[in-house]
Amino acid sequence: PEIRREDYQPFPWLVPTTRLDFELGLEKTRVTARLEIERNPDADASPTIRLNGDGLELVSLRCDGGECAGHMMDGDDLVVTLEGDRHTIEIVTEIDPGANSQLMGLYASSGMLCTQCEAEGFRRITFFPDRPDVLSTYTVRMSGPKKDFPVLLSNGNRADMGEDGASHWAEWHDPWPKPSYLFALVAGDLVARSDSFTTMGGRKVELNVWVRDGDLERTEHAMESLKRSMKWDEDTFGREYDLDLFNIVAVSDFNMGAMENKGLNVFNTKYVLADPETATDGDYDGIEGVIGHEYFHNWSGNRITCRDWFQLSLKEGFTVLRDQLFSQDMGSAPVKRIEGVRVLRGVQFPEDSGPLAHPIRPDSYREISNFYTSTVYNKGAEVIRMMKTMAGDEAFRRGTDLYFDRHDGEAATCEDFVKAIEDGSGIDLEQFRLWYSQAGTPKVSVELSQEGDEAVLTLSQAVPPTPGQDDKKPMPIPLRVALFDRDSGSHSGEHLVVLDKARDSFRFTGFARKPVLSINRGFSAPVTIGRDIANDELVFLAAKDDDPFARYEAMQDLMVRHLVTASKGDLSDDARNAGQADIVRALRAVTDDDALDDLMRGELLSMPSQTYIAEQIEAADPGRIFEEREGLKAFLASELQDELHHIYDRAEKLPYSQSAEAKGARKLKTLVLSFAAARDPQKAAELAAHQYDRADNMTDRQGALMVLTGIDSAERTGRLLDFYNRYQGNALVIDKWFALQASSLHPKVIEHVKALAEHPDFTLRNPNRARSLYMPFTGAPHGFHAANGEGYRLIANLILDLDPINAQTAARFVPALGRWRKLEPGRAALMRAELERIAAAPKLSRDSFEQVTRSLG
Ligand code: ARG
Ligand code: ZN
Repeated sequence: PEIRREDYQPFPWLVPTTRLDFELGLEKTRVTARLEIERNPDADASPTIRLNGDGLELVSLRCDGGECAGHMMDGDDLVVTLEGDRHTIEIVTEIDPGANSQLMGLYASSGMLCTQCEAEGFRRITFFPDRPDVLSTYTVRMSGPKKDFPVLLSNGNRADMGEDGASHWAEWHDPWPKPSYLFALVAGDLVARSDSFTTMGGRKVELNVWVRDGDLERTEHAMESLKRSMKWDEDTFGREYDLDLFNIVAVSDFNMGAMENKGLNVFNTKYVLADPETATDGDYDGIEGVIGHEYFHNWSGNRITCRDWFQLSLKEGFTVLRDQLFSQDMGSAPVKRIEGVRVLRGVQFPEDSGPLAHPIRPDSYREISNFYTSTVYNKGAEVIRMMKTMAGDEAFRRGTDLYFDRHDGEAATCEDFVKAIEDGSGIDLEQFRLWYSQAGTPKVSVELSQEGDEAVLTLSQAVPPTPGQDDKKPMPIPLRVALFDRDSGSHSGEHLVVLDKARDSFRFTGFARKPVLSINRGFSAPVTIGRDIANDELVFLAAKDDDPFARYEAMQDLMVRHLVTASKGDLSDDARNAGQADIVRALRAVTDDDALDDLMRGELLSMPSQTYIAEQIEAADPGRIFEEREGLKAFLASELQDELHHIYDRAEKLPYSQSAEAKGARKLKTLVLSFAAARDPQKAAELAAHQYDRADNMTDRQGALMVLTGIDSAERTGRLLDFYNRYQGNALVIDKWFALQASSLHPKVIEHVKALAEHPDFTLRNPNRARSLYMPFTGAPHGFHAANGEGYRLIANLILDLDPINAQTAARFVPALGRWRKLEPGRAALMRAELERIAAAPKLSRDSFEQVTRSLG
């Protein structure tokens, strides 16, 4: 059944306190829950209380120490009849964490026990009102064999502990009322890196990062990132931590990135463990970002939580924005912004233009796990960023201060957030609220004309129809613009224009000649821009724009435009030559610009992705796009041969460090190798093998291997074998080994993936491993989009095999098959047929069923 946002009703009962007692065992854990409940004065009275369950077996039930007035099972839920206003309910359940392959609720992961409760996993542990608006104060006792579970953790502070022969126990108390999705428990053989942080109010907080023995050396970056996050949230948002203890635990079997459980964050090992030998620069950045993200949730998520799951973007959109701003402050701000936009365009834009499109605040769902999407997270962050842009930094901060103040301790809504920003900052957000209800990426068409000494900017917007939303209203779109003088190459200041009508004009005086327009600077709005701009002007901006994002954008536009026309077969020889020459001119301005840092230079020299180009085409032929993109790369590689050579030599001289310079140098090295591979594969294989052999860090080694995997050569075979032997036993690095081969440009990638699925190290039971093989494959042009449909079949088979093991992870592969409307008719039919085959399977999970039926449209 569909759950609808408009059907929200407050829960008839309050649960002021919850006591949980766990008798821990890997195969059998007994859970005794004691709930103190009382009638909710703000809700309609009910003669019953509905306690959610999911596959639970009820061992016993008592009300106020005796029999309950009545109870029944309604599906998986337990409904208890209650006569008075105040009761104690005691429930005993027994669960088997070892058999829990869904990794929701309490489960076993390499000998330890851990939990994942968001969104609806708590109901797999005990019967409970498992909804985010029921806040309770938790006391947790757990006991178990000392040798299996030497470390016993839960939320809040440890209140007591003791021993009992071979068994021991601990009691934890969390003083902050919280919804069940923030509950966590961890028991296992763990060691900690410990440190402390003193808050602005003078509270000394003990910090621990818990990992398996042997992984301790790889936790330094995580700990440093945590301390920086705590300081940054104080400085930037005035948010102080509120317990004496903050624990992070790394778990190798985890469905997502990490989880913000109060005082006890649980992380995928991928976002904790790093050292130069095993983690890339990208991995280091990922760890910093996710550690920050989960820590920032303490205020945006935990102190203020969500009223219902339709409000998910209230905490996720805001927290993504907060982690992005943090990362921008810790590293190169422009590069972080470009990376953020790349994720948005690479994942969210396709979602927004396909069958799974939904507003950042969805209206209905069957399975909430399917709505942990790039739209809710990344577009959600962009929407709040726009408010910040329109209000200005100081007024925005007044808005967030008011929000934290007004709603502390509450389960709030997106509307509460917008209202607080409105009241605190003083800006009018009435029409802006449409960004919460309308799906689809607005398209803004831009014209610039000259009238006397005035430049006239005419903008119009169209929000495309999306499933269930045919007619859209115009939304306020804040665009940062600058007008460049052609001769001086400068502009006299940036303007913020807000397009809030279907069409509008903006006039700028004092231009003797038509200026060059730089628009959506800093990517101030999550829209696509259709601009009528000459190649010459793009070359100008790619060389001169002082806004790094706009400069990057001009370069991308220049290449995208060329590749889109070429892939459609619409390019005459003359136009092809002229277009290529323009791109070379623009790129040369980048290779030769001494003022650029190498991280930024790397962005400017990167070609648009296959997926992004395909997005711009009505009925795309992935094979054609691939050939054109590789062809252009080969051409550029030979035109810019000397420049690229010089860049490589310079970069190679820098010793390893985590400085921006050294990271930039590493990025350029692999970029140069990938250009070389398009021009002269055999030569590139030698260069890549050389980089691989000399590497003293994972970034160089993985970069070299990435280039090698696409080149049929002795070097390829040898280095792949070396990589495996070198890192055998290190799961995160072996994940890279799978991923590199699955994403390769090698023509036989399908055969490789099939063989890798039979590799002894491959398993569908570990989400990181399952994703490492199949996720990159869905982006591989040869493999996934093979003209005979074999790639689509492979992913459909994976979904069917994985669905009974881990439905959440299986359902995440469905969107790749939902792109059929954007493909040429042959592939579109093959893709659809696979979706239909999945839909027809008996016993499909709710997760996959919802995604498949929505994808079929
Ligand atoms: N709240 C977590 C985060 O954004 C994500 C947890 C999602 N879990 C899930 N099973 N859908 O950091
Ligand atoms: Zn989050």
